[in-house]
Amino acid sequence: MIQRPRGTRDFGPADMARRRAAENAMREVCHAHGFGEVVTPTFELSELFTMRSGQAIVDEMYVFNDKGDREMALRPEITASVIRFYVNDLSTLPKPLKLYYVGSCYRYENPQSGRYREFYQIGAELIGNDNPETDAEVISLAVKCLRATGLQDFEVRIGHIGALKSLVQAEIGDRTLASEVLRLIDKAEFEALGRLFESRGLSGDLMGRVRAVAGTKGGAEALDDIEDPEVKAHLKELFETLSLYGVDDCQLDLGIVRGLDYYTGMVFEIDAPRLGAEKQVLGGGSYTLSELFGGEPVFSTGFAIGIDRVVLALEAEDFRPEYRQCDAFVVPTEDNMRKYAFAIASKLRAAGIHTDVDLMRRSMSKNLKYAASVGTRYAVIVGRDEMASRSVTLRDMDTGEQTLVKADFVVEELEKLMAGR
Ligand code: HAM
Repeated sequence: MIQRPRGTRDFGPADMARRRAAENAMREVCHAHGFGEVVTPTFELSELFTMRSGQAIVDEMYVFNDKGDREMALRPEITASVIRFYVNDLSTLPKPLKLYYVGSCYRYENPQSGRYREFYQIGAELIGNDNPETDAEVISLAVKCLRATGLQDFEVRIGHIGALKSLVQAEIGDRTLASEVLRLIDKAEFEALGRLFESRGLSGDLMGRVRAVAGTKGGAEALDDIEDPEVKAHLKELFETLSLYGVDDCQLDLGIVRGLDYYTGMVFEIDAPRLGAEKQVLGGGSYTLSELFGGEPVFSTGFAIGIDRVVLALEAEDFRPEYRQCDAFVVPTEDNMRKYAFAIASKLRAAGIHTDVDLMRRSMSKNLKYAASVGTRYAVIVGRDEMASRSVTLRDMDTGEQTLVKADFVVEELEKLMAGR
């Protein structure tokens, strides 16, 4: 047997039904907010990601040389591709440009529950500016996407990278060292940060200031504790606008740094606490990347939701919508009823009723057994008497109750019965 690569998964029909239900609910919300879908390639020239995504992501990338000896990478995320697409082809479109995407991403991580080497994201990018109302539109879209899946228990934390970045970068000239400092703040590893400060001879005073900024957290009242006046005004307006969209209960957290390096302003994360270690279901914020790819500088704000984690979080909340492969299974009682059975199945399918029909030339009792085993709601039995009277018998597979209906009205009758259940 050939094993699946580590950190990848196969999804069967029941899993896919749940995953698609969550994905489709979120797609609808994107459209309701005026976002249009884009699709970009699963692999790109690797420099697209190495330019600004940050060392952590680069270390996890799947990189290979193609037959033309070009260095390619499987995409670890989709934001850089969307901005490349924007710079190449979409930059003359009127702004704001509101784009969303769904796709697989690849990171060579240590696989565990909620952490995979191939995983799926739905994300959105609003290209145009970094106004508080743009940030509010994006955060509100993210929250409404998660709500639409049925998820109830999640926490939104909003910060602003500007305050920490300007402090750290102003005091520490070395870009790599500044990135390492920010990474440790992101992971809240303050002991390791202390050791790094000591070994590099950085001042204890800077450490104190960094800790004070990173420790600014709490409900909306904590906004008053922000020292940087610009950041304070921006986040205050953002929280107010979010409230107008019915998104309250957000927490301020100036300690959010994010694992990717391209953020410049507001940053936000959403956790589903029931997931334990891999609880972060979303990451996002505002950034500029276009000038790096040869375009005019433009601010964007976006996010990506980890679909796999959302589905796990829904399961942790016992939200498992019922899955049925088919609503109707057409059963001919004998061989020469087969053509009539196909005609009935075709009619039901044309009306959008999920329908299966015997393909194994089984006996009626074996067909009924099969229909029950795959969770079919109704068997549609077509026998000699039924054919003679241009009728079919609808059998409720749970109760065994049978109803004889005219073939001309089989769609309406079945829909009525299903609605009544
Ligand atoms: P990210 O935080 O790296 O951000 O990923 C977004 C989400 O993808 C995470 O919150 C998590 O739910 C999911 N995720 C990440 N890695 C894995 C993994 N190994 N297994 C399962 N799920 C995972 C980005 O990717 C940015 N592009 C978001 C963004 C868009 N920022 C601005 N626009």
